[in-house]
Amino acid sequence: MTTKIKKDLYIPFRWEERRHVFLERFFYIPKKYDSQNHGELLNWSRPEVFGNDLPVFVEFCSGNGQWIVQQAKAHPECNWVAVEMRFERARQIWLRSFGENLTNLYVVCGEALEFLSYYVPPKCIAQSFINFPDPWPKRHHAKHRIVQAPFLRCLSKTMKQGASVTLVTDSPTYRDQMFDEFKQWRSRFEAPFFCTHFPSYGESFFADLWVGKGREIFTYSISMKWIDLPCQPHDSLDWSQQLSLAKTFQSQGERIVWKCNLGIETPFYPLDDEMQFQAASLAMRRFTEHIWPIFQDHTDFVCLYQGTAGFDAFFSWSDKQRSEFERFTDKETPLALPLFCAESFAIYFQMLSHRLPDEAKVLLLFDLTHLKSPMRALQVISKERFEHFSIGFRGMDLPLEGLWWEGTTLYTRKIETTAGVVFPRELCDRIEELLSLDGVKILFESNVSEEWEGLDLLYVIAGSLGVQGMRKLSGFRAAGGEIIEI
Ligand SMILES: C[S@@+](CC[C@H](N)C(=O)[O-])C[C@H]1O[C@@H](n2cnc3c(N)ncnc32)[C@H](O)[C@@H]1O
Repeated sequence: MTTKIKKDLYIPFRWEERRHVFLERFFYIPKKYDSQNHGELLNWSRPEVFGNDLPVFVEFCSGNGQWIVQQAKAHPECNWVAVEMRFERARQIWLRSFGENLTNLYVVCGEALEFLSYYVPPKCIAQSFINFPDPWPKRHHAKHRIVQAPFLRCLSKTMKQGASVTLVTDSPTYRDQMFDEFKQWRSRFEAPFFCTHFPSYGESFFADLWVGKGREIFTYSISMKWIDLPCQPHDSLDWSQQLSLAKTFQSQGERIVWKCNLGIETPFYPLDDEMQFQAASLAMRRFTEHIWPIFQDHTDFVCLYQGTAGFDAFFSWSDKQRSEFERFTDKETPLALPLFCAESFAIYFQMLSHRLPDEAKVLLLFDLTHLKSPMRALQVISKERFEHFSIGFRGMDLPLEGLWWEGTTLYTRKIETTAGVVFPRELCDRIEELLSLDGVKILFESNVSEEWEGLDLLYVIAGSLGVQGMRKLSGFRAAGGEIIEI
């Protein structure tokens, strides 16, 4: 078996062995080896890796390592990891690093997705970079590109909250594909979301090559810039870690979404519990006094809620709310309960947002998965109810423009169309009511006379039927049938 000799590396195994090997700040993941036999997750703070807890920055597809060696030299306050699958290139990175006496650069010789999937612990990467990934320009080769859904899924899991990804390419096709893959993330740049001039980003072999040939270079930098603020009664409201993360974002010119964890997603208390409300108000005031003045210009949203819009599923009732519910509705329609609960939450969010600065954009993120129908969902989340908030949706396929979210990603959906549907307020309520009646069957207006055989009662929504429909109903009545309009 060959091993590292003084200033060089050799493939550290025989082909038949195909095992992963750790050498000095070098990790070898052999190709095509027994996938059952993956090693352990890397622990960056172990002495044989970095031996400290500095933030970890990872470059995938490092090539000969020119860029990452420069960065590791210029930024000793960070740990750098180069991931390159070709041994000869990984070896060159290691040699450069060795030549520069760097102790903050770790070289991984292996396939990027495999490395992420099996060796990187969750939520540990502070920033990642992909500089000039192989573009695979032919359409039937595009499947080999690294920036695709499986890679992004793994990357999201391994990145810290607020971590960013920077992608650089000279290929407009790959640039657009990257944008498609990452469109749910937030770009550092305004539309079209990439920049073609990124001074002091650093040089790499391919950057020099393509710039030398006069090609345009596209840099696309996106991140999940969420900062969680623990705001519950048992939380200290110290937030010093969050402040330092925010300062890093601020110094990088990034924009922030503050996520206030108030515990409202699954409250075990009624919303009129005074003590809980005071605790939440205190957190809001602390945000207003200590965070807002410093980060106002870098803040996109203050998020108060991220959870189901089926508020009735976990609503904790107090006597006061029960009597309010009775006042809210004089008849028990199927929508009364979800709408009452949504209304109560809207009022609660409104009261909390009064403790936040007037200029803050308050965000509510609703998951529509458990709402039974699009009609119900649209009524619950109506703009009228949440008019003072920015609201985002997920979990239901609705042709609705605006903010949508998935996990910690937030994006604006724009629908390219020339036609719209006006969603009525009243009618839906009544359709819901009709559909919830016991012991009824549905008849389509056009076929009503063919289908009423055996019926002596029809429910209809007042004013909703056309002339033909009305004429048919007169026939039904003339034959002794009863019609109830609701
Ligand atoms: C075009 S070169 C760019 C190298 C370097 N980033 C630069 O700018 O000079 C792409 C590099 O990515 C490596 N690579 C391609 N796919 C990879 C993968 N799935 N995992 C790790 N490395 C990969 C290739 O071996 C190659 O060295």
